[in-house]
Amino acid sequence: MTSTDETDAVGRPMPQFPEPAVLFGHGPARIIAMCNQKGGVGKTTTTINLGACLAELGRRVLIVDFDPQGAASVGLGVNANELDLTIYNLLMDRSADITEIIRPTAIENLDVLPANIDLSAAEVQLVGEVARESVLARVLRPVLDDYDVVLVDCQPSLGLLTVNALTAAHGVLIPLECEFFALRGVALLIETIEKVRDRLNPRLEIDGIVATMYDARTLHAREVVERVHEAFGDNLLHTVISRTVKFPDASVAAEPITTYAPSHAGAHAYRQLARELIARGDAA
Ligand SMILES: Nc1ncnc2c1ncn2[C@@H]1O[C@H](COP(=O)(O)OP(=O)(O)O)[C@@H](O)[C@H]1O
Ligand SMILES: [Mg+2]
Repeated sequence: MTSTDETDAVGRPMPQFPEPAVLFGHGPARIIAMCNQKGGVGKTTTTINLGACLAELGRRVLIVDFDPQGAASVGLGVNANELDLTIYNLLMDRSADITEIIRPTAIENLDVLPANIDLSAAEVQLVGEVARESVLARVLRPVLDDYDVVLVDCQPSLGLLTVNALTAAHGVLIPLECEFFALRGVALLIETIEKVRDRLNPRLEIDGIVATMYDARTLHAREVVERVHEAFGDNLLHTVISRTVKFPDASVAAEPITTYAPSHAGAHAYRQLARELIARGDAA
């Protein structure tokens, strides 16, 4: 890959990510879990906007809302509180049909498997199931050939739902906010990922850590990404997502930033993240 004259937030040469190839067929999907047990770090924002950018590139994308808060559903304009059938029904009822629960969004190529507060009961109800860690993997299987990428927006915990996401996934993307205490908890997250890899899902890879809510004007934010780079090396992706009020604004409008403010720097950042993941082989 050729590099530009620019450097990334930790001084590495910034590669020129190639224009992704046009896909002429779809599937089987690569499943990526967006995971960090800390809340408010940008998991949902990254899921929605990365999903929208991959869809913009002609990839068929399914976003799995796997948080009872339902923020990914709402952020894509799906009012999951009014739905009779959500991912909860799919997890609990073997006769439920995933194709009847998946909803289209206003974005071409982007669908969502919605969640609402019902999902909060699943954690407890799944405990008694056979192969309780691989329920999500099982229920997604029938549609994997229809998509190129499945993004699973995890809840902020390392409980059974998140373990299900890690068991279903090919890769994990870790959004990390550029705050002093961000690194706390990442060791535990990586330990959990390694346990799932050893016991349940040998193919599971860490796709990368994406720094979010970055403010280039503060020494503090730069120090945080430096520390992440020291600790995790090239797991730190080149793309960083800056802090901007356009993201909360876009989620109020229930749109990805790519349609809400298509030429804003925040939209470009997620487009770059999509190209970086494709260049790394982490997405089709
Ligand atoms: N880069 C960013 N700049 C500013 N605000 C952001 C950014 N990313 C996310 N936010 C806002 O921060 C809050 C938490 O983000 P969210 O993606 O919901 O985190 P999580 O899913 O990890 O809990 C939301 O209000 C969101 O709009
Ligand atoms: Mg969230």
